[in-house]
Amino acid sequence: MGGRLYSSRLYGAILGSVVAAMAFAITPLRAQTLDDKVQVCSACHGENGKPVDKTIPNIWGQQAGYLYIQLRDFKRGDRKSEIMQPIASAFEKDDMMAIAEYFSKKPWPDLGQPRAPKDVAQRARTADGSIGCTGCHLDHFQGDSTVPRLAGQGRDYLAKTMADFRTRARGNNPGMSDLMIATSSDDLAALAEYLAGL
Ligand code: HEC
Ligand code: HEC
Repeated sequence: MGGRLYSSRLYGAILGSVVAAMAFAITPLRAQTLDDKVQVCSACHGENGKPVDKTIPNIWGQQAGYLYIQLRDFKRGDRKSEIMQPIASAFEKDDMMAIAEYFSKKPWPDLGQPRAPKDVAQRARTADGSIGCTGCHLDHFQGDSTVPRLAGQGRDYLAKTMADFRTRARGNNPGMSDLMIATSSDDLAALAEYLAGL
């Protein structure tokens, strides 16, 4: 709880300055270059691609199609986030496609997360075997197009977003929610640890 409270205060503070910067920018948003538009992202997603908080996802090197769909869904409100919704709402489709392309071309950062111990990895692989995560996320969990890369994503973020799919708090992909509901919470914990360490 403490961590969550701290995080929401942290985001609140950062978001306040981001929104202020967007509102008072001398250059109108439409006239900003791509570099201007992505400037604000690094306040949370990191200057060097390493997110500033463990519950913020890594977006550097993520699949472009997937990044675009998330920005679109944040703007539509299909994926709810008090933080990302106002940010994505400032963009039109062309901006989102260019931003998605821009981040997908950056190198995936090494978050330095440990490999899962053998028993945890075994549990995760067994869960994958019965649900078939790799059928969509591909053999090395590298993703493709609109399916996200999971390998090396932040562990706390993975755990949080899988829990959000499960409760449908993240409701933008009902199919993923059904799969997460069909997976036990112990298996999901093992998967988060395993995927983070890949
Ligand atoms: C104030 C902090 C903050 C800023 C600034 C910010 N983000 Fe985010 N972003 C987040 C958080 C937190 C999440 C996770 C939301 C959730 O799942 O609840 C997120 C999620 C995302 C996701 C979804 C990634 C995934 O793996 O599903 C994308 C894409 C994204 N942000 C892109 C951007 C872009 C592009 C910018 C700049 C235009 C930006 N963000 C600026 C905090 C921020
Ligand atoms: C039928 C194809 C399919 C299967 C099977 C599948 N996924 Fe997914 N998964 C997707 C798609 C598509 C998305 C993107 C959803 C969206 O656009 O928000 C996704 C999103 C995710 C995300 C969110 C990543 C992020 O950056 O926010 C996680 C975590 C995830 N899947 C984990 C899993 C795990 C673990 C399994 C196996 C237990 C699994 N998925 C099985 C297709 C699949």
